[in-house]
This record gives sequence, structure tokens and C-alpha cells, in this order.
Amino acid sequence: MGALDGKVAIITGAARGQGLAEARLFAERGAKVMLTDVLDEEGEKAAASIGSSAAYISLDVTNEQSWSNVVAATVEKFGKLNVLVNNAGIITPAAETHETSLETYNKVINVNQVGVLSLIHI
Ligand SMILES: NC(=O)c1ccc[n+]([C@@H]2O[C@H](COP(=O)([O-])OP(=O)(O)OC[C@H]3O[C@@H](n4cnc5c(N)ncnc54)[C@H](O)[C@@H]3O)[C@@H](O)[C@H]2O)c1
Repeated sequence: MGALDGKVAIITGAARGQGLAEARLFAERGAKVMLTDVLDEEGEKAAASIGSSAAYISLDVTNEQSWSNVVAATVEKFGKLNVLVNNAGIITPAAETHETSLETYNKVINVNQVGVLSLIHI
């Protein structure tokens, strides 16, 4: 018996890095996992490498229009939804704060803060 047997999770930013590691761990512990990311080719490969307990769907966490699609696709694929891992995040290119443009700052806020609210709202 795995600690996550019977659970279904969505993980954002799961095409690589920590998100992919989390997806692998969830699957190893018995969960079904919907990997999501903006890196579609990497995401598809990542889900395939985990096997039948994983799938991939494209999700930009800053795009409100796609949030409900991801939830619907997850429930359609795995029958329910129990867990959301808000992993997607970006960092600013190495720069002093006074050199960081407003555009860059807003992008970080959108992904790292507004994006966290995304699927919680559904
Ligand atoms: N690696 C570390 O040392 C560290 C430390 C503290 C916090 N974190 C946080 O952990 C999380 C994962 O970090 P990581 O090191 O694996 O980084 P990473 O860059 O390897 O992975 C982040 C993933 O998020 C995805 N992503 C970026 N913008 C997105 C968007 N708008 N919508 C959906 N997905 C998007 C990227 O494509 C990428 O696959 C991030 O939130 C990061 O800030 C990492």
C-alpha cells in the first residue's frame, strides 16, 4: 500500500526539476498524477516516463482561461481530484533590484503569486 493510494494530484510546472521529482514521488506512492507545464514536449515525455499513472496537459498558470480545462481533463482522465501542488515558479534573471524592469517584476508576480491562486479557484 502506498501512502497516496487512490489520490489524484495536479502538479504545476512538472515538466522538469522539482515538479517532475514530485510527480515521480507521487506516482511511486500510489497516486495518479496530472503533470502540467508550459514546456509541452518535455511535459509529454516526463509523463510518459512515469507511465500509466501519469498524464500531461498544457497549463500556463497565468492564463485563467485554461484553469478549468485542466481540472476537467484531470477528472475525466482519473475520475476525481484530491491534491494540487502549486510548484510552477520563475526567478528573475540575475540582476540588482534597481536594475529589474517593471515588466520582469510583473511577470514574476504573475507566475509566482497570481498563478498560485489559479487552480485553487476552481
Ligand atoms: N531549485 C531550488 O533551489 C528552489 C528553491 C526554492 C524554491 N524553488 C521553487 O520550486 C519551484 C520549482 O523550482 P525548480 O528549481 O524545479 O525550477 P525549474 O525552472 O526547473 O521548474 C519550474 C517549472 O515551472 C514551469 N513554469 C514556468 N512558468 C510557468 C507558467 N507560467 N505556467 C506553468 N508552468 C510554468 C517551467 O516551465 C518549469 O518546468 C519553483 O516555484 C521555484 O521557485 C526552487
